[in-house]
Amino acid sequence: MAEALIDDFGRRVRYVRISVTDRCDFRCVYCMSEEMTFLPRAQILTLEELAMVARAFVELGVEKVRLTGGEPLVRRNIDHLVREIGSLPGLRDFAMTTNGAGLVKQAARLRDAGLKRLNISLDTLDPERFRQLTRTGELERVLAGLGAAREAGFERIKLNAVILKGRNDDEVLDLVAFARQEGVDISFIEEMPLGDVSDHSRAETFCSSDEVQAQIERRHTLIPTTESTLGPSRYFRMSDSETRVGFISPHSHNFCASCNRVRVTVEGRLLLCLGNEHSVDLRAVLRRYPGDLDALKQAIVAAMPLKPERHHFTTDGDVQVVRFMNMTGG
Ligand code: GTP
Ligand code: 5AD
Ligand code: SF4
Repeated sequence: MAEALIDDFGRRVRYVRISVTDRCDFRCVYCMSEEMTFLPRAQILTLEELAMVARAFVELGVEKVRLTGGEPLVRRNIDHLVREIGSLPGLRDFAMTTNGAGLVKQAARLRDAGLKRLNISLDTLDPERFRQLTRTGELERVLAGLGAAREAGFERIKLNAVILKGRNDDEVLDLVAFARQEGVDISFIEEMPLGDVSDHSRAETFCSSDEVQAQIERRHTLIPTTESTLGPSRYFRMSDSETRVGFISPHSHNFCASCNRVRVTVEGRLLLCLGNEHSVDLRAVLRRYPGDLDALKQAIVAAMPLKPERHHFTTDGDVQVVRFMNMTGG
């Protein structure tokens, strides 16, 4: 019987998000500033260290592992790590969040290596806008990547759209129509104030999930579900499609009371909450006691009382967390 990770508020941690790189081939305006410097290689966990972190969590009762970035597909030999993690007994759900640009080359290999689910970020269907929002991305490549992912036979594919007022809030219905046409799910995300992105004022672009939902409900009936992926999305179904529509609403519908997640940054910092800076240096343990799984597990168990009750994000444009999203992958 696996041990369990339980925090001081009685919440059980079942889900770990592991960032495998801070690098990305895009520069999305809500995620990064235009000029980013990335970490030197010695500071980031090796693939072996990342695999050991995943193993420790699964042995501690974690059921869901998600690989994030930056962009996980820019990490060399990522499929080797996927294969290692995919073979861990006790792991029920194994997923990756990606910008999709690398999927044409890698989707089949990842599926073969044991990855079950993919979430692909897609904020607009307009090529020019896509370029503006991602600064360096090409819509065509991501759409081709989605096609490759569908062919590779993942269990579920979900699109993630961060909705910004005045930038893409007029595309909500088009994005839903696209998800229905492709037979995939879609989640709409409220922007979070991580890092000073300088491109726009977050106070001005904030668009609440309720506004997005109201737009969708003008055309579709959304039926609430209690389905859970263990993630923060509140999912709805439509009577005439398999597509599920989710809302991730850290501002308007706080979900901290049922939080079941922790994250590990690419530097091996165990972050107990996305919206706080409390962390524990797992890299120090990994490098001081190489190969010692028990020492790593003990450090993780000992970190649980640090998990804060909730984040305190506001929509007034203040940066509450200095760290940029690409350091943790959300
Ligand atoms: P599914 O497993 O498909 O439901 O996905 P997921 O929501 O678990 O993962 P995904 O990577 O698609 O995350 C979508 C968004 O949710 C990202 O913007 C994350 O930053 C955000 N998110 C995930 N967990 C948390 C959390 O604990 N707090 C906050 N504030 N945001 C979170
Ligand atoms: N607020 C909300 N979502 C964000 N993402 C990146 N930065 C932010 C932010 N500041 C999203 C990406 C991706 C997921 C991992 O997080 O679009 O879908
Ligand atoms: Fe890259 Fe994802 Fe950040 Fe966009 S949101 S810059 S794709 S890490």
